[in-house]
Amino acid sequence: MSLVKMKPLLAWAQENRCAVGAFSVGNMEMVIGAVRAAEETNTPIILQIAEKRMKQSPLRLMAPMMVSAAKEAGVPIAVHLDHGLTLECIDACLDYGFTSVMLDASLLPLDENIALTRQVVAKAQAFGATVESELGVVGGNEGDTAEHRILCTDPDDAERFVRETGVDCLAVAIGNAHGNYPVLPELRFDVLEEINRRVDVPLVLHGGTGITDEMFRRAIGLGIRKINIATASFDALAKAAKTYTETVEKPDYFTLSPRMADAVYRNVRRHIQVFNCK
Ligand code: 13P
Repeated sequence: MSLVKMKPLLAWAQENRCAVGAFSVGNMEMVIGAVRAAEETNTPIILQIAEKRMKQSPLRLMAPMMVSAAKEAGVPIAVHLDHGLTLECIDACLDYGFTSVMLDASLLPLDENIALTRQVVAKAQAFGATVESELGVVGGNEGDTAEHRILCTDPDDAERFVRETGVDCLAVAIGNAHGNYPVLPELRFDVLEEINRRVDVPLVLHGGTGITDEMFRRAIGLGIRKINIATASFDALAKAAKTYTETVEKPDYFTLSPRMADAVYRNVRRHIQVFNCK
């Protein structure tokens, strides 16, 4: 059984100066593709789903599949709630056996974010689960290209937040955004360096789609230990489905399904190699 907590995975990434890939999934093909990439590269990963995505991919169906895939995988896999917005969803994920949860209260004033995060840390402790939280504003919405308002994390706030909440890892806003970037992002490595100097928990980079390999490596060198990839996998799956259905007269599901899984596999594998956790 290879379902693991997220915290030891991040500690291991810290020791190895690499980052663990956190790959968003929305259906069975995505789970199959991501787990295969992890197993073939013999590399731990994080499988995650955002609360906002549960409209299309209900938690009651996704959770048992994700937890079961992790348990049966030949490599360590943590199962994580990405961008938890409500305490109800966080409770449900912990009950389903997720080994990590994220509370995204980053749009609330700092004091309120701290108070809510403390509640989530207490809930997670009862399950031995890991907690991620976010400070500053990462642009866009998880999985969307819609909006790209970005507010960098303030290193003073980060220091206070980690001290007062006891979170296990912190997602930073350094010019990164969810979805496809309209132009190549300019990441604020100076801000990341300062946060890394002031805060002693592993740091998380959201909005991985469209960030260059060179930027990933630089961010890893400055304390990023978990990197989220969503849009690139969803886009790869959609493109594979389009290519297949457009090129045959009578598309069938049993040919389409492995093609979708394979597209996700290739995207996950490519990112695992850049993140360099062997
Ligand atoms: P992308 O959709 O840009 O890959 O971002 C993923 C993410 O950060 C999920 O929280």
